[in-house]
Amino acid sequence: MLEAIKLNENKLQFKGKDFLQLSDFSPEEILYLLDEAQELKAMQKQGKPHPYLSGKVLGMIFEKSSTRTRVSFEVGMLQLGGHAIFLSSRDIQLGRGESISDTAKVLSRYVDGLMIRTFGHESVEELAEHASIPVINGLTDLQHPTQVMADLLTILEHKGKLAGLKLCYIGDGNNNMAHSLMEGAVKVGMDISIASPPGYLPNGKITEKAIKAGKQYGSTVMITNDPVEAVKGADVIVTDVWTSMGQEEETEKRLKDFASYQVNKELCQYAKDDFIFLHCLPAHRGEEVTAEIIDGPHSVVFDEAENRLHAQKAILKLLLA
Ligand code: CP
Ligand code: NVA
Repeated sequence: MLEAIKLNENKLQFKGKDFLQLSDFSPEEILYLLDEAQELKAMQKQGKPHPYLSGKVLGMIFEKSSTRTRVSFEVGMLQLGGHAIFLSSRDIQLGRGESISDTAKVLSRYVDGLMIRTFGHESVEELAEHASIPVINGLTDLQHPTQVMADLLTILEHKGKLAGLKLCYIGDGNNNMAHSLMEGAVKVGMDISIASPPGYLPNGKITEKAIKAGKQYGSTVMITNDPVEAVKGADVIVTDVWTSMGQEEETEKRLKDFASYQVNKELCQYAKDDFIFLHCLPAHRGEEVTAEIIDGPHSVVFDEAENRLHAQKAILKLLLA
């Protein structure tokens, strides 16, 4: 059983729910999902079959590229006894202008759940509104909640706890990872500090909501332009690419704007000696992080990538079984 929170299964309602952003879930639900992920991971490692989704099908709509999300969801469904269908927006009628609402209604007649990776967060909300089956957000410009569930699982495995830790995110604050990390951290009692250049601060509404939730659950949110201030005493350091998918035209400007926000040895000396480094990947060595850090002893990025599989299997089981 995780942490101090006693889980009352009767209060947890996952079945049929969507998984769009972590702010929709209570601390108990997030911890329950992590507990479930650990159990499923143990079963998989021991070679024990766990066909909780036998006969179920997940439709996966991708409007952006993916390595980890696509493969981990597909493998996860297979390991749970189900099946996943990859639906590239280049190939389905959605890419030729069929409406999101019609797509949602039609696909709901065939599959048991939908995962979507797209640009605007409102597209995922619209899909969820018109689908009669659970919808999982596999990344939007605003949020990347399944990645953060994997991140929390990784931190828990390496630190043995979540509550009371300090997580520091360096880089683009107005980014899906920063937003979902903020929402996730405050729910599990972790303090979060975010250091971003002026003009790249996190979304104001998400920040306000996180500060409010933090007060309720005993965590703090610090937003600053000063990377050293943010990293001081951190247990976990996280960064992400400076140019997210869809922002390619801004690459040159961003390289300049973020130049002093690199996670490197000099910056990391302000963290705790046993800090761990996370990055959702793909990474750009020499930009947001040096090779010395991402390939060094503090880095847990490949455990983190593996945990996409286990964390998502927990989500899929609880929503679809
Ligand atoms: N971290 C992540 O979402 O990776 P992909 O873009 O490869 O899915
Ligand atoms: N912020 C990055 C995350 C990639 C997994 C992007 O949106 O491109």
